[in-house]
Amino acid sequence: MSNPASPPAVGLLDQGPELTFPPGFRWGAATAAYQIEGAATEGGRTPSIWDTFSHTEGRTVAGHTGDVACDHYHRMSEDVRLMADLGLKAYRFSVSWPRIQPGGTGPANAEGLDFYRRLVDELLAHDIEPWVTLYHWDLPQPLEDAGGWPARDTAGRFADYAQLVADALGDRVRHFTTLNEPWCSAFLGYGSGVHAPGRSDGGDAVRAGHHLMLGHGLAVQAMRAARPQARLGITVNLYPVTPSTDSPADADAARRIDGLANRFFLDPVLRGAYPADLQADLRQVTDFGHVRDGDLAVISTPLDTVGINYYSRYVVAAPVEREEPERYWRAPSCWPGSEDVRFVARGVPVTDMDWEIDAPGLLETLERVHRDYTELPLYVTENGSAFVDAVIDGRVDDPDRLAYFDAHLRAAHAAISAGVPLQGYFAWSLMDNFEWAWGYTKRFGMVYVDYDSQARIPKSSASWYAEVIRRNGLAA
Ligand code: NOJ
Repeated sequence: MSNPASPPAVGLLDQGPELTFPPGFRWGAATAAYQIEGAATEGGRTPSIWDTFSHTEGRTVAGHTGDVACDHYHRMSEDVRLMADLGLKAYRFSVSWPRIQPGGTGPANAEGLDFYRRLVDELLAHDIEPWVTLYHWDLPQPLEDAGGWPARDTAGRFADYAQLVADALGDRVRHFTTLNEPWCSAFLGYGSGVHAPGRSDGGDAVRAGHHLMLGHGLAVQAMRAARPQARLGITVNLYPVTPSTDSPADADAARRIDGLANRFFLDPVLRGAYPADLQADLRQVTDFGHVRDGDLAVISTPLDTVGINYYSRYVVAAPVEREEPERYWRAPSCWPGSEDVRFVARGVPVTDMDWEIDAPGLLETLERVHRDYTELPLYVTENGSAFVDAVIDGRVDDPDRLAYFDAHLRAAHAAISAGVPLQGYFAWSLMDNFEWAWGYTKRFGMVYVDYDSQARIPKSSASWYAEVIRRNGLAA
């Protein structure tokens, strides 16, 4: 085995000089409906696939569900005050499809819309710009029963729902994101099944990915017609994929994982075509017969912004037997056709999710998207870390999270200096919340949530971030 290449890794604190961001840089924080709202059966809301999934035994850690979550539905004003205390310029949240359109078809539910209208009003009253995500994984259950995202019809249903949201909120909301992390919806939801709806079929995952993007394109067209002034975008989760060694076999493993993780979405949305090598890699799984003439033109409907969620880097190796088996593990079934690739742990610092901390990967990702795909304004729509937090004397000190933010903001600033039109950054997350299959066991928030009392305690990273926003940059 040749020597492992050493991609840049960043430890917990990489302090540097004082840095100032461009004027008007959007400093934000993000959440998602199912992760914070609770009130799962109130206000006319009906079940989504995440209600069904989390209520199915064995699907989430300790059987946790989003039934109550952070009870944000009832504590919305208090939570907006927390955002105002932080000095947030923008807040990215998602609207719950089954709250707005119970069952996923038909007219809007006035009570559901009313909740989001009140939220938007409160935000605007505090000079916080609302950024609305339409789909953060909560497909109405009846649409899953009708076939879910592998079924083409779901794309049209999504566009109808997008139109309802644009009609109802588009007078006061300028920024809309269609999908959040379609890779997760498609490949974790229908490939490995660790996310709702918990199905595992590689072909279904690929079809789901296509129909998610088709729904995105149709939604952009519908919203553009309804609200010509709106700024429309999509949020993708991207990873630099680095070969473990300089061997051609490892390079090929990296090419394949990059195809599935990144180019599967970037190429259709921003170039109007699937990469040929990706289609060849997937030929055991699908013949792409689900792609109809004209789909890619819809999928690549022009956008105004591109959102990037960044958390970590993948280091991968070719499928050969290795020494140190604990450092190499087989790709799980969310990588259809490439399950033989090995993922490699480099032994660099990790978060509580076991995700390697790699701030230079954010710079690399932003530069790649700008260089290879688009001149559109980019936004980091999520970036953050889970660490174990403890309340001591009523305070939560989270130096590791703070250092993670600091290092990644330095990378974001380096991207801007290198000419990338990065216009904003949303920390994930405003507060601790339901971390999907991990339930409440992983904390990503800048604000600690005591789930017994629903008390909110801003962590030290929150006061640090407030200072970053206040000075529009980082101290030395
Ligand atoms: C991405 C997802 O959009 C968000 O819902 C999730 O909580 C974070 N990553 C952390 O895993």
